[in-house]
Amino acid sequence: MLILGIETSCDETSAAVVEDGTNILSNIVVSQQTLHSRFGGVVPEIACREHTKAIISVVDTAIAEAKTSINEMDAISVANTPGLIGALLIGLTCAKTLSFTLQVPLITVNHLHAHIFASNLAHGPIGYPAISLVVSGGHTTLFLSESEVKHTPVGRTIDDAAGEAFDKVGKILGLGYPSGPVIDAIAKKGNRQAVTFPRSYLGKGSLDFSFSGIKTAVLYHCSGQDSKSGKRTLTLHDREIADVSASFQEAVVDVLVDKTIFAARKFSVNRILFGGGVAANSRLRVRLGEAARQHDIQLYSPPKNLCIDNAAMIAGLAFHKYLAKDFSTLDAAAIP
Ligand code: KG4
Ligand code: ZN
Repeated sequence: MLILGIETSCDETSAAVVEDGTNILSNIVVSQQTLHSRFGGVVPEIACREHTKAIISVVDTAIAEAKTSINEMDAISVANTPGLIGALLIGLTCAKTLSFTLQVPLITVNHLHAHIFASNLAHGPIGYPAISLVVSGGHTTLFLSESEVKHTPVGRTIDDAAGEAFDKVGKILGLGYPSGPVIDAIAKKGNRQAVTFPRSYLGKGSLDFSFSGIKTAVLYHCSGQDSKSGKRTLTLHDREIADVSASFQEAVVDVLVDKTIFAARKFSVNRILFGGGVAANSRLRVRLGEAARQHDIQLYSPPKNLCIDNAAMIAGLAFHKYLAKDFSTLDAAAIP
C-alpha cells in the first residue's frame, strides 16, 4: 500500500511516499530556515508564502523520486495539528484536493504523534505500552503510548519548549537561528560543569517541564542581573561560549532524561520512544541511552534525519490509521 504524506506545520515543506508504513520510497524536505534566520525565528507570513510556492513541486518530486505516479496512491495523509495555522492549512488544502480528485481516503495526522512514529520507521514494529518524549521547537510533551496511534499526554512544558530554549539561548550567545544544532556542536568543546544553571523539576512527582528559568539564568550569566535587552552585553570568548553552551545543554538534558525515566517507572513501562528536532541532540541521545540501560529499559532512538519535521513520519503513521479505517472528511480542520 502506498501513502503520500504531506507536512507543512512550521518551516519545512515536505512530501513523502511510504510503502506499507515502513518502506520510505521518498522523503523530500525543503527547509525555509535561511529565510527565517535573519529574523531570529519563524515568521508565520513568510512560512505560509513559501509553503504555497513550494508545495506542488515538493509533491511532484516526492512522487518522481519514489518512481511511482500520483494515481498509484492508496491514500493521502497530512499533518493537520499542531502547528502554525496558516502553514497547516496549505498542506491540508493540498491533501484534500488530491484526496477529492483521486477519490482516495484522506488521513489527518497529529504531527507530535508522527514525531514519535519516526522511531518505528527505523526499528520496525515496537511493542506497547511505551513512554514517548516529544522534544521540538514548539513542544515538550511526555505521552503514555498504547499503540502507534494512541498517545495520552502525561506531562508537558508550562512555558518554553526545549527547542525554543535552545533557540533563545543561541540568540543570547549570538549563534543564529535555529541554534539547537550549533549549541550541540559547540558544547562538545565546552566544560559541562563550568556554570551551574538551574534545573527546574516543578515539585516531586511532576512530569511537567519548565525551561524559561534557565533561559533567564543564561541571560543574567552573560549580561549581568540588570540586563533587559535579551542580548549578550559582555564580550564572551569562544571558550566561554562553549562552556555556557555545554553547561546549559547539560541542565536541559538532565531534566529531560530524569523525567522520561521517572515517567517510565511511574507507569511501569519498559520501552521509551523519543522524537522531534531536539531528539537529534547528541548529548540527549547518549544520556538517555545510558539511563535507559541502567534501568533496563529498551530505548528506540529515531535516526537523526527523521527527527526534524518530515513527511515520511506522517505517511508512516497514516498507514496504521488506514488499517483502523480512521479516515477524515473534506471538512477536516487545521488545529493550531
Ligand atoms: O521538530 P522540529 O523540526 O520543528 C518543530 O516541530 O518545532 O524542531 C525544531 C527544533 C528547533 O528549536 C531546533 O533548534 C531544535 O529542534 N534542534 C536541536 C537540534 N537539532 C534541532 N536542538 C538541540 N540539538 C540539536 N542537535
Ligand atoms: Zn515538529
